[in-house]
Amino acid sequence: MRALLIILGCFLAACNEVSVDAINAPLENKIGDALRGEIIFAAREGGHCILCHQVESLTAEFQGNVGPDLTYVSSRLTPAQMRLRIVDYDSVKPGTTMPPYYRKDNLNQVGGDYVGQTLLSAQDIEDIIAYLASLKESG
Ligand code: HEC
Repeated sequence: MRALLIILGCFLAACNEVSVDAINAPLENKIGDALRGEIIFAAREGGHCILCHQVESLTAEFQGNVGPDLTYVSSRLTPAQMRLRIVDYDSVKPGTTMPPYYRKDNLNQVGGDYVGQTLLSAQDIEDIIAYLASLKESG
């Protein structure tokens, strides 16, 4: 009986971990600017989010489709959930092709000056979140 309770307890704890899938506080307390976020989202040498994602209202050509369409992402994810996914999607879904934009350790394929640097700054990420959160909900 005791063993069963322990197993059940672990199971519930594991479920809990999975449901904690957000970073609630803005990175470095930065305040996001949606207009700047749109520019970073679409910049091919910046966030290059657009290489893999589409947003209907963007006029940019050649939007990618490796990742999901983000036109209505604000009806699926809270800003806090978006934050975790942009920071380190691998922690939500190990092995994903979405790059970790704000993870300072375990980055493969970096060397020299880039060690310890994140792909985007805290401000960039907060701007992108403000932009995605400002997109219309479906309907
Ligand atoms: C190399 C391709 C690639 C790039 C570049 C990329 N993503 Fe993604 N993204 C993905 C994939 C693939 C998924 C779906 C996760 C999965 O199933 O592995 C995803 C998922 C997401 C999600 C969650 C969408 C949902 O409906 O759950 C958000 C938000 C997101 N990406 C934002 C961004 C932002 C912002 C950028 C740029 C800073 C970006 N992505 C760059 C591939 C990419």
